[in-house]
Order: sequence, then structure tokens, then C-alpha cells
Amino acid sequence: MARSSSSLLAAAAVLAGAAACGDPAAPEFPEDYARSFVEVRACRPSGDHDLRSVRVLVDPSGLSSYLTRDAPHPEGAVVLKEEYEFGDRACAGPVAEWTVMRRRATAEHGGWRWQRVDADRQVVSEDDSRCIGCHAACGQAPDGHDGTCAVP
Ligand code: HEC
Repeated sequence: MARSSSSLLAAAAVLAGAAACGDPAAPEFPEDYARSFVEVRACRPSGDHDLRSVRVLVDPSGLSSYLTRDAPHPEGAVVLKEEYEFGDRACAGPVAEWTVMRRRATAEHGGWRWQRVDADRQVVSEDDSRCIGCHAACGQAPDGHDGTCAVP
């Protein structure tokens, strides 16, 4: 009896947890982002993102602050990094995964939402402390700006 009620409690806790988390996170960038996002850093190898080749794009709302680096990014601005397999030096594709930052309304987690999204657009991680920690260190002058880590 004691045993079954505790497993019921455990099941209830799991259900409550699932409800609290809500639906799986949606990617913070549209599927057809290539139509509107603008390339700000062309294809190159990245020493910090698993030695993959990367390309960086910004949505129209974040373009000015990303390029001029003289103002914080506006809420909702999206900085998207396409990551290609190691060895794909031309970023010829397909994309292996995306890492993405979306500007929050608050300063929580450095002011950004952080995601890793796989090639099937499944969100693999959100607000991973490794992203937040490393970008807190590199996301300031001279190379970084407002949480982003490279000169465009
Ligand atoms: C070990 C440090 C480190 C970690 C961990 C890290 N990054 Fe980065 N990230 C960088 C550096 C350095 C750059 C700029 C150079 C480059 O593109 O590789 C960068 C670039 C980016 C960019 C392109 C915009 C920019 O800053 O220039 C995005 C988007 C990004 N990272 C997202 C993420 C996300 C999301 C995570 C976690 C899943 C993450 N990063 C983890 C160091 C890191």
C-alpha cells in the first residue's frame, strides 16, 4: 500500500513536471529564415563551436546593432549560426545544426535565449549554462558586443 501510493505520487510529480514545462520548445527562428535574414559573417571555421564551418546571419531587426556595435540589440533580435560538418569548408551544406540567440525582454541569462537546434529543427538544448558562461566572457569589447563574440 505504502509502495503503490508512493509510486502514484511519483507519477503525479512527473505529470505535474511535464505540464509545467509545457510543449517542447519551438526554434527561435523561422524555417524560411534564408528569405529575410542577412549574412553578417561568411563561411569560416569556428574554433569555439566544435571546429565546424559556420556562417552567421541576423534577422532584419538586429542588423543595425550587430553591424554598428554601438547599441544593445533590440528585444526579439535573432543572431543565428549555421554549423556545417567539419570538413565542409565552403558551407555547401546541408546544415548540421544551428545555434541561435534571441534577445529577451529582460537581462536574464545575459539578456538572450540560447538554443541548439538539430537538422530536423528539434530544439536540443535551451539556455544551456555553457553558452551563457562562455558568451558572458567573450561577448564584450574588443571582439564581442552585447553577448555576441565576434567582429562582423
Ligand atoms: C567555449 C565558448 C563558447 C561556447 C560554449 C558557446 N559559444 Fe557561441 N560563440 C563563441 C565564440 C568565440 C563565437 C564567435 C566566433 C565563432 O563564430 O566561432 C561564438 C559565436 C556564436 C554565435 C554567432 C554570433 C556571435 O556571437 O558572433 C551564436 C549565435 C552562438 N555562438 C550561439 C551559441 C549557443 C546557442 C551556444 C550553446 C549551445 C554557444 N554559442 C556556446 C564561443 C562559445
